[in-house]
Amino acid sequence: MSELLQLFQNTRAQSVALCEPLHIEDYLPQPVDFASPPKWHLSHSTWFFEEMVLKKFVTDYKIFNPHFSFLFNSYYQTIGERAIRTERGTITRPTVAEVYEYRKYVDAHIKRLLQNAISPELEELIILGVNHEQQHQELLITDLKHTFSYNPIHPVYKENFNLTAQNNEEDGWLQISEGIYKIGFEGEGFHFDNEKGRHKVFLHDFEISKFLVTNADFLEFMEVGGYDNFKFWLDEGWNWVNENQIKSPLYWTKIDGDWHSFTLEGLKPIEHDDILTHISFYEAQAFACWKGLRLPTEFEWEAAADQLNWGKRWEWTYSAYLPYPNFQIAEGAVGEYNGKFMVSQMVLRGASTATPKGHERKTYRNFFHPKHRWQVTGIRLAK
Ligand code: AVJ
Ligand code: FE
Repeated sequence: MSELLQLFQNTRAQSVALCEPLHIEDYLPQPVDFASPPKWHLSHSTWFFEEMVLKKFVTDYKIFNPHFSFLFNSYYQTIGERAIRTERGTITRPTVAEVYEYRKYVDAHIKRLLQNAISPELEELIILGVNHEQQHQELLITDLKHTFSYNPIHPVYKENFNLTAQNNEEDGWLQISEGIYKIGFEGEGFHFDNEKGRHKVFLHDFEISKFLVTNADFLEFMEVGGYDNFKFWLDEGWNWVNENQIKSPLYWTKIDGDWHSFTLEGLKPIEHDDILTHISFYEAQAFACWKGLRLPTEFEWEAAADQLNWGKRWEWTYSAYLPYPNFQIAEGAVGEYNGKFMVSQMVLRGASTATPKGHERKTYRNFFHPKHRWQVTGIRLAK
């Protein structure tokens, strides 16, 4: 079997494996606009292969179900009309069983395709589809956590599955000297279009922490009234705190005077030494400001990455998600993948405990709106 087919099959199997602990009722709810149901992730990642690969490379390919493009197209205007994003939790049909049939159908066709000669263009699209599905694996698990967190009986996804119980392995500060640094992807191997356009940036002397902020550190910020003092907050962040009555990181709740947090193993006491997570950019920035420090830029982060222990949290940077010099929008639907989101979002660097193995890269640019905190986010400091 070709390596490419193996990679495809392993990735497809991993999505199914993530759903193994689910019961049928877990597949559908969408309590908030920014999260999607597991059933939708399983379908959409399958649709991506059907739309981007099978329709193009298999002559006389027979679409599994002509309604599915409308239902499972996420945001590709090039491809056509689509169902309303915020109503994914109301789509009771196709059933979960039919979605698994859809996956098998598409998998069988991709397998047949990859048993013949593979053009570079086909290979590239399969690898994009694999990386796309990996992104949806991370979203599936963080979205599921979010949905479970609304349940008053605190469901357990799986014992010994905890995205948030990690400690720092290093302490202290790394010093980086001023100079010209090269930023962006270079060389062989998969990378997204938003990492391309390797370019030089000038950085001044800076220091970046080898550790991430812990729960104990953040509790101190809370105890001194960090959430109540406008002077640490950006104006937008201060409005967000007040409008949403934010008083702690996401999933934290006080029980008999002690902080607990909802995890995929159920409700757990907050461990002081665990690395903080589920904070927004606004909270990250306010914490850094309170410390008299700041968040690193994405360029500082990348220049230091080889000397840092990273991969446990998506780390908020103080960089807006912007195109690199010479950024090119690809032809066709794939051109909508990343480029059109380059406004009003912040860059996160690293990877998290929810990121599939092998999906991480030091040039990887994740991005979310600054208010979001349902991803496994964390804080690294700079000065
Ligand atoms: C890079 C995580 C922001 O959530 O839309 C999924 C990933 N892109 N399908 C997102 C993605 C297309 C993307 N993030
Ligand atoms: Fe997608």
